[in-house]
Amino acid sequence: MTDSAIDLLLTRRSVVANKLGDPGPSEEELGRMLTAAARVPDHKKLVPWRFLLFRGEARAAFGRVLEETYRSEDPDPSEGRAETEAARFLRAPVVIAVVSHVRDTKVVPEWEQVLSAGAACQNLLTAAAASGYAAQWITEWYAYSDRVRAALGLAENERVAGFVYVGTAQEPPTERTRPDLDDIVSDWRG
Ligand SMILES: Cc1cc2nc3c(=O)[nH]c(=O)nc-3n(C[C@H](O)[C@H](O)[C@H](O)COP(=O)(O)O)c2cc1C
Repeated sequence: MTDSAIDLLLTRRSVVANKLGDPGPSEEELGRMLTAAARVPDHKKLVPWRFLLFRGEARAAFGRVLEETYRSEDPDPSEGRAETEAARFLRAPVVIAVVSHVRDTKVVPEWEQVLSAGAACQNLLTAAAASGYAAQWITEWYAYSDRVRAALGLAENERVAGFVYVGTAQEPPTERTRPDLDDIVSDWRG
């Protein structure tokens, strides 16, 4: 691995969606990020994931779905929260829904297929950083809403692994604490 690649892995930080703004990646840059996302370990080459893009007007349109869902499911909806829901996808120029698509096969356990979708999310974060952009992998409440699932067109065997928001950091993130390797690494001693 080159110095720059390991440096990137050792310094990359997520930037919260609220702090992501324009510019977003160009078509070409986005294509490269998605190509990197699709280049992840995938047992038996099942391709157990797909990507849904939200750009331009689609972000506001999806916000209307979130707002309507919120209003219909909360017994006492507030106007402030309804506005927040409507604007969620406007926080970043591009939002990529990584959809885990579990294939019906006895050969590769569901767990492994879902892990591969997680790897795709992480590759998106890394590729965004390597391309000079910032990103955040989030699920929030709408990854788990049946009504939103329907609006996303998810099949029974599909789940949102993450919404990856991509844009330009409006301010640099501060570092967060990381686990002490002594707490999470040990030698197997039999
Ligand atoms: C599957 C998954 C879902 C997440 N969902 C959320 C979320 O809904 N809201 C949130 O603030 N952070 C969420 N996070 C955490 C952030 O993506 C991120 O881990 C955190 O901001 C620190 O990231 P960093 O270690 O890359 O800097 C989620 C992380 C994962 C792996």
